[in-house]
Amino acid sequence: MAFKRPDGRKITEMRPAEAKVGVVPNADGSAMFKSGKTIAIAAVYGPKKMHPQHQQNPRTGQLRCEYNMISFSVDDRIRPGRNRRAMEISEVTKWALEPVVDLKDYPNQVVDVHINIIQADAGTRCAGINAAAMALAHAGIPMKNMVSSISIGKLDKTLVVDLTKEEEDFEEGEGPTDIPVSITSDGKITHMQLDGMIEVKQLQESIDMAKEACKEVYKIQKDALKKFIEDKSEGLN
Ligand code: CDP
Repeated sequence: MAFKRPDGRKITEMRPAEAKVGVVPNADGSAMFKSGKTIAIAAVYGPKKMHPQHQQNPRTGQLRCEYNMISFSVDDRIRPGRNRRAMEISEVTKWALEPVVDLKDYPNQVVDVHINIIQADAGTRCAGINAAAMALAHAGIPMKNMVSSISIGKLDKTLVVDLTKEEEDFEEGEGPTDIPVSITSDGKITHMQLDGMIEVKQLQESIDMAKEACKEVYKIQKDALKKFIEDKSEGLN
């Protein structure tokens, strides 16, 4: 019998996604990326002088990312503030974005990326990376490419795109495996994680699935950036 997802999606089908640019007026760049019930808001500030001063690099500017899940983003209120998970996701977000950002003309400066997850239903690091890449572009930060991110899951033995929390909690057979992948618009992987167990052959299949899904994510990001520019030229923002 074919594998059935709890929400009836096809195995290669993403959740309904939406994106919007320019959602935080005070920021130099900002964007929202929503995938199903997961919503990420990214705000970019800079380039500006790096503080603390001892972290300045006279050869290049630097990217600094901070990921945060707000207290009421999940049903059980979570403790606010920094924790190990948020620190890890902040770091991988930086790894995912750094290869496309060119800050060599900004010595001693920093570009701050603040990501807030206002609603969480799995895939928050991917939604955060998608929003952050758009916010960097909106801020006019020199970028070689866009970055798009999606999570591939293995539920027992079946690979599926864009897990929900309900799917992440799947317990049948071999249980769940979660593989968040971030890919540039020219097809290079900048970030990949693996939480669970998978054989090499299926890992390769999951990368191929991520590449296809990220093309869809990229289209959504690009359309949102275009819409912002069009609205601006008509005086709408
Ligand atoms: O969100 P993402 O899949 O990138 O990361 P995760 O650490 O695998 O978390 C998966 C999901 O678990 C989150 O998106 C939340 O829905 C949920 N979660 C939670 O309810 N409480 C936490 N303290 C952390 C995560």
